[in-house]
Amino acid sequence: MSTPKKNLNIGMVGYGFMGRAHSNAWRKVTNFFDVPYQPVLKAACARDAVKVQAFADQWGYASVETDWRKLVARRDIDAIDICVPNDLHLEIAVAAAKAGKMILCEKPIARNTAEGLKMCKAVEKAGVLNTVWYNYRRVPAVTLAKNLVAEGRLGKIFHYRANFLQDWTISPDLPQGGTGLWRLDVKAAGSGVTGDLLAHCIDTAIWINGPIKSVSAMTETFIKQRKHTLTGKVEKVGIDDACAFLARFENGALAIFESTRYARGHKAEYTFEINGENASIAWNLHDLHRLQYFNHADESIVRGWRNIHVSDGDQPYMKAWWVPGLQIGYEHSFVHQVADFLEAAAQGKSASPTFREALETTKVCDAVLASAASGRWVTVA
Ligand SMILES: NC(=O)c1ccc[n+]([C@@H]2O[C@H](COP(=O)([O-])OP(=O)(O)OC[C@H]3O[C@@H](n4cnc5c(N)ncnc54)[C@H](O)[C@@H]3O)[C@@H](O)[C@H]2O)c1
Repeated sequence: MSTPKKNLNIGMVGYGFMGRAHSNAWRKVTNFFDVPYQPVLKAACARDAVKVQAFADQWGYASVETDWRKLVARRDIDAIDICVPNDLHLEIAVAAAKAGKMILCEKPIARNTAEGLKMCKAVEKAGVLNTVWYNYRRVPAVTLAKNLVAEGRLGKIFHYRANFLQDWTISPDLPQGGTGLWRLDVKAAGSGVTGDLLAHCIDTAIWINGPIKSVSAMTETFIKQRKHTLTGKVEKVGIDDACAFLARFENGALAIFESTRYARGHKAEYTFEINGENASIAWNLHDLHRLQYFNHADESIVRGWRNIHVSDGDQPYMKAWWVPGLQIGYEHSFVHQVADFLEAAAQGKSASPTFREALETTKVCDAVLASAASGRWVTVA
């Protein structure tokens, strides 16, 4: 018999890419996970009254707001889900913390460490539950990778390498600013591929292999000027279009990370490989339910890379879904994060990564950008 559930009223800010991914997760979670809360889609918020109403109708939100301040002030909202551009995270999160709401904030936590630190202090002072949506941690194959490393199966880790490659900003005609394209506007985004894409790679890397100590980076802005959607003027581009960096982990492992939006043919190619003394693992977002595993202890005549189809009931999260052999996809990582958030909330705890944990990734991003600017190795603060 399933546990009786308390309602948890959700206030969603933003109805773009992540607003949809999260709404889907809130709606689905209790169909598959026996979590202690029943999420209720209480209110959706965005500036355009017509568009936000259409979103609310499509996804089943009971009401709408056009000012996030009103949403945060509502007494019938328990949790604020922040799905807006990075420059808005700080203000909304601080106000939500003061109002005593639980907060689920999209990544990166903020545009930089200084902003992120204010957010950490606000949630810690208010004592409100918080998490940041580094959802790739909850792709079952990635969670399995983490577990294999934590069990010591790889032994000492020597190398970590990760890429996040895209190709959607190659045209100089693409403007900056506005829905989706705020990513090209440094004022809204904080940085380019570093905060947007490498932040995912860094979060996974820290989670699996521990803290990053120092970095040496290079960045490039291939297209120096773009028309701004909001001003109509051609303006300087302030983001990094591409970034590659070397890193040293505290455990002695060496790393190499690369991200770009100029790798023709790659749409969202997030890959990582980890090499240890006993074994190696590799993962690719384009084949996200598979984990490649090489175990040197295997008998030599059959030794080779295993291609593990992560779909069995004893593999992470998979018991909740279908039968062995049937895989799940991208959107399920968000369902898993909601499930973990609700489980932790029932025990009065924040689900990982908390704001404080997610700040570590932003510290590395800041060190990467500082290193690219100075041309020197930079120690992570
Ligand atoms: N976890 C992931 O894999 C992942 C993927 C994509 C984006 N993100 C993060 O999610 C956040 C949102 O990105 P997105 O891709 O959904 O962007 P988007 O452009 O698709 O959507 C942004 C939404 O914010 C709304 N908005 C903008 N200003 C607002 C305001 N003042 N008040 C209320 N609403 C406002 C817009 O109307 C829009 O609905 C960013 O922080 C981004 O980095 C995370």
